[in-house]
Amino acid sequence: MRSFMGRDILSLKDFERHEYFRVFDVAAMLEPYARDRRNGDLLQHKTLVTAFYQPSTRTRLATEAAMHRLGGHVTGFSDAKMTRAGDFYQEGIQDTVKMLEYYGDVIAMRHFQQGAPAEAAHHASIPVINCGDGWGEHPTQVLTDMLTIYRERGTLDGLTWILIGDMRMRTMHSISYALSKFDAKAYVVAPDDMYFLPEFEEEIKGMGFRYERKEHIEQVIGEADVIYMEPVVQPDYTKSRVEVTDDKGMTPANYQVTKTLMFEKARGNAIVLHSLPRQDELLPDVDTTRHQRYWVEAYNGVLTRMALLALILGAVE
Ligand code: CP
Repeated sequence: MRSFMGRDILSLKDFERHEYFRVFDVAAMLEPYARDRRNGDLLQHKTLVTAFYQPSTRTRLATEAAMHRLGGHVTGFSDAKMTRAGDFYQEGIQDTVKMLEYYGDVIAMRHFQQGAPAEAAHHASIPVINCGDGWGEHPTQVLTDMLTIYRERGTLDGLTWILIGDMRMRTMHSISYALSKFDAKAYVVAPDDMYFLPEFEEEIKGMGFRYERKEHIEQVIGEADVIYMEPVVQPDYTKSRVEVTDDKGMTPANYQVTKTLMFEKARGNAIVLHSLPRQDELLPDVDTTRHQRYWVEAYNGVLTRMALLALILGAVE
């Protein structure tokens, strides 16, 4: 097995089946810190540097919380405007990470440019975790999703998924890579202008990802074990920040999940996941149903990041 120690986590493309289970095992081992809300000292001599060039609630704070839970230190920025990358100088990735590598032991980066964390990893002497790069990938979110399903169902094989929403999203890329490693089948429900790009489709088909496109969620919801959602009312993920406008638009019923739809058409044990934030594609009335698992992902997200940090920093082998 490849060691995680010193490794960059940039993509799930090359993440092997057994590596998911290694992360899940370590997450279970470290869970008492999160469950008992008591910080330990496993990473007391290590520092996480967060470099977030795009807004985040969950990813940055879950990664920082994971570091705190393991007794580590955290420094960094959550708004690139307050750094030299966001002012007159427009400092590039290379120059920035040549500084950050001396401020800590691992860098967690979110960036509006696809490939920016990979560029950072190329120049940095410490590991880089991709916390979302433009439309590119979001490996730590999808590891959290896979952990959530594994804890619910005890397996990642033999499940039918619906991927619904914007297939250009970084989560949709990472989940497609992840599902290609398991005996999974997926239905893809997305508008034409938000469908997979042809080159990505070619790649995932080549990796063995089994999926079929459908027009409307009602056509397939009765077959789903997991309904994996993203909005279709979306900002441009290649921008550092997009302000809200009055005419954001509404989600067509094809891409919407409601309590009524779940009660009338879904299997009793179907699980709804959404990486959040949401718009009107996932109505709040689903929150109180037995299908909802997006809130437990806040907890599982900390477990996943604790496991990754402990593995990458060599605190567990
Ligand atoms: N799931 C997710 O990426 O959320 P944030 O944008 O709040 O980090």
